[in-house]
Amino acid sequence: MPSATTHPDPGVTREQLRLLVERFYGAIREDAQLGPIFDQRVRDWDMHLDKMTRFWCSALLREGSYHGNPIEAHRFGGLSVELFDRWLGLFERVSNEVLGELGASRIVPLARRMGRTIAMRAGIRSALD
Ligand code: HEM
Repeated sequence: MPSATTHPDPGVTREQLRLLVERFYGAIREDAQLGPIFDQRVRDWDMHLDKMTRFWCSALLREGSYHGNPIEAHRFGGLSVELFDRWLGLFERVSNEVLGELGASRIVPLARRMGRTIAMRAGIRSALD
């Protein structure tokens, strides 16, 4: 049993990650730049939200329930480093709202590292290049 002096568990739960995914893509769809890109490509939002919940649960909770290829999924025209930054800015805001500062401090750096890897390996460049 944790004693009263034990620090609160910084652990993030599957339920919180599901809520984060729901809120995040809600914000994405309202974003003037990101919304149209997603609405053009995502055919089934329920499936996308399930997939992204499995993605984050696998990354953070070692759930092992995501088996996809994020690099290939981002090899489509029109992506830029600037759009990735915008995506990450929204992700950071919603992560803080849903997970609090402590939970966000676990997921946001991970998302940043992934964003860099995906952008680099999918050949995404700055719009100014
Ligand atoms: C840190 C940045 C990002 C991460 C970690 C990320 C992660 C992912 C993952 C895991 C998938 C599912 C791949 C699969 O099908 O298995 C996905 C799909 C997708 N992502 Fe991202 N993404 C990021 C940035 C972006 C940005 C900036 C955009 C657009 C501006 C974007 C647009 C999409 C779209 C449209 C799909 C659906 C692809 C499809 O189903 O055809 N992503 N993303």
